[in-house]
Amino acid sequence: MLSFLASAANGAAANPWVAIAYLVAGVLFILALRGLSSPSSSRAGNRFGMLGMLIAVITTLVTHDIANIAEIGIAIFLGGIVGFTIARRIAMTAMPELVAAFHSLVGMAAVLVGLAAWLNPGAFGITDAAGQIFLASRIELGLGIAIGAITFSGSVIAFLKLSGRMSGAPILLPMRHVINLGALLAIIGLVGAYAISGAGGAGEGMLVVWITLLAFAIGFLLIIPIGGADMPVVVSMLNSYSGWAAAAMGFTLGNTAMIITGALVGSSGAILSYIMCRAMNRSFISVIAGGFGAEDGAQSGGGGEQRPYKQGSADDAAFMLEQAEKVIVIPGYGMAVAQAQHALREMCDLLEEKGVEVKFAIHPVAGRMPGHMNVLLAEAAVPYDKVFELEDINSEFAQCDVAFIIGANDVVNPAAKTDKSSPIYGMPVFDVDKAKQVFFIKRSMGGVGYAGVDNDVFYMDQTMMLLSDAKKMVEEIVKGLD
Ligand code: TAP
Repeated sequence: MLSFLASAANGAAANPWVAIAYLVAGVLFILALRGLSSPSSSRAGNRFGMLGMLIAVITTLVTHDIANIAEIGIAIFLGGIVGFTIARRIAMTAMPELVAAFHSLVGMAAVLVGLAAWLNPGAFGITDAAGQIFLASRIELGLGIAIGAITFSGSVIAFLKLSGRMSGAPILLPMRHVINLGALLAIIGLVGAYAISGAGGAGEGMLVVWITLLAFAIGFLLIIPIGGADMPVVVSMLNSYSGWAAAAMGFTLGNTAMIITGALVGSSGAILSYIMCRAMNRSFISVIAGGFGAEDGAQSGGGGEQRPYKQGSADDAAFMLEQAEKVIVIPGYGMAVAQAQHALREMCDLLEEKGVEVKFAIHPVAGRMPGHMNVLLAEAAVPYDKVFELEDINSEFAQCDVAFIIGANDVVNPAAKTDKSSPIYGMPVFDVDKAKQVFFIKRSMGGVGYAGVDNDVFYMDQTMMLLSDAKKMVEEIVKGLD
């Protein structure tokens, strides 16, 4: 392992072809990001990304004096089998937790590279004639280990929360802001102390150990106060951290492709986090500071309350949908679980044949990953021009006859507008209460959304609950429309 890392560190920057190959890979990564910005170009974007990665990996393998190519071959083979198996088996709905788990591996890799370089700096070519690690390399090393460790423990907590192995509710420690700020300042101080210390030996070793341990702790502390509805922002933020950790690793290894890729992932993740914070009406600083804005009194719960509601059947829904002039469909996580998108598309086609105008409204955090609903609707060949973002369609609920909610919950919950103690307070939501009629598909009255709060929309006069699996219910409505 050390010999591989070291040979990579010895760099092949002297060879202009290597620099050109890495530059081409970098350009392909930029084209990949551009392609991924729209569903219609996302396949091409993925191909650019794969080609760029292939060029980067092959260039590194053929131009570096890698001592044991057989070991690397075995590692690539085993890793490839694991990756292939996971990718084939993973349910679309479990994608965010898988992404969080992968981020944790990037973080741990950065920590291990940093520790390896610290233990054997000569092999990484980061020492002067006297065998001392360069000042710049010490800073890169310390920061790489710190960012990697924060990414690792933060991603593990995100994985546990997203996969339901740990409660999604915020865990608010007393004085958490002071503890977080103190730990962050301590890490910066320790990295500074390590950078200027040239002593080596046990004292320097303790500095590196403390940087690593404190960074592991701060990753944990930053993510535990984040509540359910803010998890999407956290996942994209950890994505950004993993990019910066990879870039720091690239400096230690002297690998330009890693620096470029890490910086692209880091900055695009930061931009995505910022966009999601704006969409969620959250302050960027408060989320990265570890739930700074979270109210100590924020409550979650509900779902078990006995309040009167109206329940309808598929035939009732089909009859009323046929009479409507305008229907707005709001898909959510439950549509993904039920894989109801194809049946939904069929239902909407039938309605359009009958002269009903149908539009789709997508919330920025509907489902469990950015663009989740867009991907599913695209898979069912719903035309892009019928799909609208929250801010573009919210004013139209006042003129629509039916708001058709299928497997969504938090994104239509009015508590986000009215209840200051709600964990989703402040998040923009669809104004479904303004529609003449609301159809709400979910499996039971007991089930709650991701944030775990009750929803007043269930009990409104104009709401008809359609309690069933989403796919089954929509298929029955289709039969009723035929
Ligand atoms: P949720 O609020 O999670 O609600 C899902 C609804 O689907 C529930 O009412 C559930 O009720 C229903 N459901 C589940 N399986 C179903 C099935 N087979 N058939 C019919 N209904 C089913 O969904 P949402 O409105 O899309 O909100 C997203 C939430 O996830 C937000 O809080 C968001 O912050 C969070 N989140 C989002 C992301 C990203 S990036 N999008 C990432 C992590 C977390 P029943 O159980 O009663 O059926």
